Order: sequence, then C-alpha cells, then structure tokens
Amino acid sequence: MKTILALIIGALLYLGYDSAMTYTNSNQFCFGCHVGMDTIVEEYQSSVHYHNTKGVIAATCSDCHVPRETIPKLTLKIAATADIVHKLMGTITLENFESEHRERLFNKVTHEFKENDSKQCRYCHDVERMDMENQSRSAQRRHQTMAEKGQTCIDCHDGIAHELPQ
Ligand code: HEC
Ligand code: HEC
Ligand code: HEC
Ligand code: HEC
Repeated sequence: MKTILALIIGALLYLGYDSAMTYTNSNQFCFGCHVGMDTIVEEYQSSVHYHNTKGVIAATCSDCHVPRETIPKLTLKIAATADIVHKLMGTITLENFESEHRERLFNKVTHEFKENDSKQCRYCHDVERMDMENQSRSAQRRHQTMAEKGQTCIDCHDGIAHELPQ
C-alpha cells in the first residue's frame, strides 16, 4: 500500500495535478484495465452514451462514476488504488466475471447511485430543464412524479450502460 501511494504521489508530482486528474478520468485509462477483465467496456460501447445517431461520446466512464467535486473525487481515486492490487492479482477474469463477481459489483454501484440520488446522471440531465411535452407520455408522467415518489434515475434506467446480472 505504501509503495502504491508513493507511486501515485510521485506521478502527481511528475505529471502535475491537473494532467494526472485528466489522465485518470479518461476512457483510455479505464479501458486499460477493464478490457479483457470483464465485458463492461464492450457493453458501454454499444450503449447510447457511446453509440448514437449523433456520433458523440455522450458520457465517458468517469462522467458516470467519478464525482466532480474535489474532495469526493480525490477520496474515490485513493480508494480505487486498491483496484490496482485486485488487477495485479488477476482475481476477475472474462470466465468468472459473470458468475462470481458481477452481482457483487452491480449491488455496490447501484447502492451508491441510490444513496446519492443518481448525482452523476444529474451533472448532465437536469429534470427542471426537460422539455416534457415532447417526451413520450410514459416518460413525461414518470419524470413529473419521480420526486414525490422518492424515485431516482436508476430505479427505472438501471442497465443504461451495462448488462444487468443474470
Ligand atoms: C488498475 C486497473 C483499473 C483501472 C485503471 C480501472 N479499474 Fe475499475 N476496477 C478494477 C478492478 C480490479 C475492479 C474490481 C474490484 C473488486 O473486485 O472489488 C474494478 C471495479 C470497478 C467498478 C465497480 C465498483 C467499485 O467501486 O469497485 C467501477 C464502477 C469501476 N471499476 C470503474 C472504473 C472507471 C470509471 C475507471 C476509469 C476512471 C476504472 N474503473 C479504471 C480495475 C481498474
Ligand atoms: C456527461 C453527460 C451525461 C451523463 C453523466 C449521463 N448522460 Fe444520459 N445522455 C447524455 C446525452 C448527451 C444523451 C443523448 C445521447 C443521444 O441519443 O445522442 C443521453 C441519453 C440518455 C438517455 C436516453 C436514452 C435513449 O435511448 O434515447 C437516458 C435514459 C439517459 N441518458 C439516462 C442517463 C442516466 C440514468 C445517467 C446516469 C446513470 C446518465 N444518463 C448520465 C448525457 C449524459
Ligand atoms: C419512474 C421511472 C423513471 C424515473 C425515476 C426516471 N425515468 Fe427517465 N424515462 C422513463 C421512461 C418510461 C422513459 C421513456 C422510455 C422510452 O420511451 O423508451 C424515460 C425516458 C428518459 C429519457 C429520454 C427522453 C427522450 O424523450 O429522449 C431520458 C434522457 C431520461 N429518461 C433520463 C432520466 C434521468 C436523468 C432520470 C433521473 C433524474 C430519470 N430519467 C428518471 C422512466 C423514468
Ligand atoms: C451513463 C452512465 C454510465 C457510463 C457511461 C458507464 N457506467 Fe458503469 N455503471 C453505471 C450504472 C448506473 C451502474 C449500476 C448498475 C446498472 O444499473 O447497470 C454501473 C455499474 C458498473 C459496474 C459494476 C458491474 C455491473 O455490471 O453493474 C462497473 C464495473 C462499471 N459500471 C464500470 C464502468 C466502466 C469501466 C465504464 C466505461 C467503460 C462505465 N462503467 C460506463 C453507469 C455508467
């Protein structure tokens, strides 16, 4: 752990804080470990936030998974250094991801989104600014009543970027 922290602090000093933050928020960085370990990247690449009629990357991995505020962002990045160890140990593989790991990780991330009221979704999607009249009737009705019913985005839009556990 000490060595890893030293490496990270070293990288921060070497690259500078801003470029270290930018690099560790890039899709390229996330793909580096997740490709070949699980099927998450491929699922994201066929989802609407990556593949759409406009041809824009609507959201990167970190747009949805990394908070933008400085302290929560740094806390997450430090906690995520444990994943380097997991990766090196090779615990998760394409063979066992679905059967042994996905459900646990799915539950963890789902819990976080429910606890923070889908905060990362709301960086981009502002319910107040939705043109509800031009949404489908069912979308309109659900978006209008979600607050009073205590619902959050991923109660209905779970699996928006990944397959759900079997
Ligand atoms: C050094 C390799 C590595 C990199 C780089 C990496 N991950 Fe991971 N990630 C892992 C491993 C390994 C796990 C599984 C951890 C476990 O089993 O608890 C994981 C798990 C996750 C989880 C599941 C929930 C959790 O908190 O453990 C999410 C979400 C995630 N990664 C997102 C990302 C994003 C977003 C990026 C890029 C900003 C990224 N990862 C970069 C190795 C990596
Ligand atoms: C970085 C900005 C960003 C973030 C973060 C983001 N989205 Fe999106 N989302 C978009 C954009 C842009 C589109 C439009 C993509 C298109 O169709 O061209 C979109 C499209 C959608 C759609 C429409 C899908 C369809 O089939 O038309 C849904 C539903 C959605 N997002 C839900 C979510 C949820 C839930 C989250 C959080 C887990 C989230 N988004 C996070 C930018 C974002
Ligand atoms: C109670 C269920 C429910 C909740 C909660 C909910 N949605 Fe939706 N949403 C829907 C339904 C149903 C649709 C229509 C889906 C369709 O037509 O395929 C929809 C459609 C959308 C669309 C596409 C709109 C369009 O017309 O292109 C976006 C974007 C979206 N939701 C984002 C969000 C975000 C962000 C949140 C959280 C702030 C959220 N939704 C919360 C049920 C919900
Ligand atoms: C549009 C937002 C969005 C994007 C983009 C996104 N994720 Fe997720 N991710 C979620 C949500 C929401 C969950 C919670 C489970 C669910 O509903 O699918 C999740 C769950 C996960 C999990 C837990 C395992 C599972 O299957 O649920 C991992 C690991 C993960 N994401 C990593 C990534 C990585 C790596 C990328 C980029 C390749 C990425 N995510 C892109 C929203 C997103």
